[in-house]
Amino acid sequence: MPAGEGPTGGRLAGKVIVVAGGGGIGDELARRYAAEGASLVLGDLNAGAARKLADEIVAFGGTAVGVALDGAEDESVRAAVDLAVSRFGGLDGFHANFASFKDGESGLDVLGLPLDAYDEVMRVNARGFVLCTRHAVPAMLSRGGGSIVYTTSGAAFIGEPVRVAYSMSKVAVHALMRHVAKRFGREGIRANAIAPGVIAHARFNAVIPPEMAREFAARTVVGRLGTPADIAAMGALLMSDEGSFITGQVLSVDGGDSMRQ
Ligand SMILES: NC(=O)c1ccc[n+]([C@@H]2O[C@H](COP(=O)([O-])OP(=O)(O)OC[C@H]3O[C@@H](n4cnc5c(N)ncnc54)[C@H](O)[C@@H]3O)[C@@H](O)[C@H]2O)c1
Repeated sequence: MPAGEGPTGGRLAGKVIVVAGGGGIGDELARRYAAEGASLVLGDLNAGAARKLADEIVAFGGTAVGVALDGAEDESVRAAVDLAVSRFGGLDGFHANFASFKDGESGLDVLGLPLDAYDEVMRVNARGFVLCTRHAVPAMLSRGGGSIVYTTSGAAFIGEPVRVAYSMSKVAVHALMRHVAKRFGREGIRANAIAPGVIAHARFNAVIPPEMAREFAARTVVGRLGTPADIAAMGALLMSDEGSFITGQVLSVDGGDSMRQ
């Protein structure tokens, strides 16, 4: 939560949101949603990090609980949604944000990609988001609707010489998102995907050399890298009632990187 910004009377006041997956972007999503007044369940494989962030949010006067979550495990997702309902009275928003980057680690193309890396990326990024949807939608329906936001990637649009499973998994989520938007739209549920461009945060800075980061920045129309706050700003709009006419969309937040030339 930005220093000095209290969680009173924001656009998300009274809403209950699960953020599935913290980390560089997810932590900022949580801070922003809390700053806008939402009550949060934050889940991450790294339970300690999720609890620490929840404590930080509570210290700023927000409402959050951090839990262990494996978004690729059915019972774990169910427990996070159940907790949101039992602790805060219902579910209005679900942000599926976690990802496996396992095939990127291999640096290999489709010919050499180990199939266990392919399976893991699809299991977490595609199947996991299906599980999130299957638990979030019924809880939202019982409340009269809600907003699901999926974090995907600009990698879904461009051919890359590596991490083909990652790109495939993000394309799959776009199809899932459109299905949810179409199937449940009349019942009050909106679904959208945010496709970030290159977003710099601690993990990114640890693995990307500065000269490569400068190249990424130069490639954008605006001439800079993205920040987690850029993604959180879009997430807050999509979670809020101000976003009530936005559904079935992939919103690129990428400094113009994906603009059609
Ligand atoms: N950073 C970027 O440049 C960028 C660009 C495009 C898309 N994205 C997308 O943004 C999202 C967040 O990425 P990030 O850069 O913040 O990564 P990150 O590694 O900082 O955070 C990912 C978080 O997900 C958690 N996680 C992994 N598997 C999980 C699971 N099965 N269940 C629950 N939590 C799990 C990790 O513990 C970690 O905290 C991802 O969906 C990623 O594909 C990021």
